[in-house]
Amino acid sequence: MQQVNLGMIGGGTVGSGVFHALELNGALMSSRIGVKVNVRKIAVKAFDEPRPYDIPRSLMTLDWQEVVNDPRVDVVTELVGGMGIARTMILAALKRGKPVITANKALLSEHGEELFATARKFGTNLYYEASVCGGIPIIKSLREGFVGNRITHLYGIVNGTCNYILTRMKLEGADFDAVLKDAQKQGYAETPPDLDIDGWDSQHKIGILASLAHGFWVDHRTIHVEGIRNITALDIQFANELGYTIKLLGIIKTIDDMRLTIDASKNKPTRKSNIVNRKSQVQVSVYPTLVPNTHVLASVNHVFNAVFVRGDVVGDTLFYGRGAGKDATASAVMSDLADAALDLKFGSKQRVPPFVPHERNGVVVPIDEVVSQYFVRLNVVDKPGVLAKIAEIFGTSHIGISSVIQPEGHEGESVPLIFMLHYATNGAVSKALVRIGRLPVVKGKPVMIRVEDFK
Ligand code: HSE
Repeated sequence: MQQVNLGMIGGGTVGSGVFHALELNGALMSSRIGVKVNVRKIAVKAFDEPRPYDIPRSLMTLDWQEVVNDPRVDVVTELVGGMGIARTMILAALKRGKPVITANKALLSEHGEELFATARKFGTNLYYEASVCGGIPIIKSLREGFVGNRITHLYGIVNGTCNYILTRMKLEGADFDAVLKDAQKQGYAETPPDLDIDGWDSQHKIGILASLAHGFWVDHRTIHVEGIRNITALDIQFANELGYTIKLLGIIKTIDDMRLTIDASKNKPTRKSNIVNRKSQVQVSVYPTLVPNTHVLASVNHVFNAVFVRGDVVGDTLFYGRGAGKDATASAVMSDLADAALDLKFGSKQRVPPFVPHERNGVVVPIDEVVSQYFVRLNVVDKPGVLAKIAEIFGTSHIGISSVIQPEGHEGESVPLIFMLHYATNGAVSKALVRIGRLPVVKGKPVMIRVEDFK
């Protein structure tokens, strides 16, 4: 049987997980692909760094260059993460024509274009299944499974930490801070938690998926991001009363070559032809979203991830699984390893290229032009005329109200006031809320959460 030699950089949680998975199922994989994968060398931070699975001392080195430069190493895994040395390591291996497998979403998000171009230039490949949603084979599905589709919609719950916190807030009626603290104590959330709860981790992943789905490199700076820090138990409770669950969603939606505008008389999004200036316009964003309880994504709970993909040929599809953890990530790395081994076996290192920019006119639509429905929560003084004043501002902004909830309160005291708004542009709603927030009867900053109808 043909042999492929693997050199690994990183032998911590993920690296040792991959080593373990190869010990467990390496023979099975070989019998499926007809190539045997041998681990030649593993560069580690320290021989005795904590790792969930043992690695034989004889395979370890402290020098990553030994791995990259070893002429017997055919394929390299970069599983150290971070933005610094990881880039140098990947570039060094690619420049030697060696395929690289990485799980490093932050690095891809920042330097993807350069890394993919280097792989192309040196006739090799860069695999990154483990960078998005751990064990869910979403990269392979987009690159290969859906190659014959235009991806019109993609919705992802791509951060397990946020989903865990939002799930517990809903089930326990608890506040964000209390759940976050407990999640940190139990190891479900990092300290500091910002990368996850402020939406940056989701931004990295959604940027990678958007680039693959739409064929132009989506600069992460163009992705509108809001995290879950400001979601309160009250928002979750009112959303539930209205039949919705709040999820942090990554949203990628084609607006095609037509621009969505609002027909104010009907409160419906209509399409205005933009054919003269034909562009592939895409919404790419990450924000907390009201998901109807009847939609399958509302039932994705705890640390699980899910990606809902709509293709113009295939229709609706759903992927569900663990988005992080040593074993789920190892499963994704094994899949990449099988592809790299098959490429080497058949002498075609670029059979499925990592990312091919094929859409010259792709643009990310600015968030203020995005059309959606909205949940708005205000804290107002309960007295005559307040509702009328607020409704007037929405009315003069051509924003329709679809429903209002005001729990019974006492005149003169503060009370929550909830509005569900019809389709409107983000810009129009933001402007109206600035005006509403300035009314003396409105206490605190208005809360606005977008509502997704999945149409
Ligand atoms: N921290 C991420 C999550 C996993 O909570 O889903 C790694 O991207």
